[in-house]
Amino acid sequence: MAYREIRKLGDEVLRKKALEVTVFDNRLKMLIEDMVETMKKANGIGLAAPQVGILKRVVVIDIGEGLYTFVNPEIIEMSGEIIDIEGCLSIPGVYGEVARPKKLKVKAQDEKGLSFEIEAEGLFARAICHEVDHLNGVLFIDKAKNIIEEKKDEA
Ligand code: NI
Repeated sequence: MAYREIRKLGDEVLRKKALEVTVFDNRLKMLIEDMVETMKKANGIGLAAPQVGILKRVVVIDIGEGLYTFVNPEIIEMSGEIIDIEGCLSIPGVYGEVARPKKLKVKAQDEKGLSFEIEAEGLFARAICHEVDHLNGVLFIDKAKNIIEEKKDEA
């Protein structure tokens, strides 16, 4: 495993659309392992592959309730709305209030290509939305109603 540099705001790669993963090989497994190590070292709760410069639809999330890997994630159901403070490892020190669904259902594949669906709510749902946005070149500051200073989780 290896730590990979986290790309910061201003890096063009963060604004590009990531491509669907079609090959589930050792290279993908290594990318996922590196993303997990990078996320943990940075004390983040989530990381998307474009944040380490790789334009593939791969996300890792750990909000403290175990590690989840999502390859080619697609949010297929959403309900409710919660406004809460959000941060991003690619925009350190900046936080803002963002509206996200209270609950959602996401469909994805694991590192071997097996499809699964999972329901999420609260912070987990927020992290999934934040990371899926990264795969589409969208950052939380695009959606934040206001930018504040209070320290929160970064993803
Ligand atoms: Ni982020």
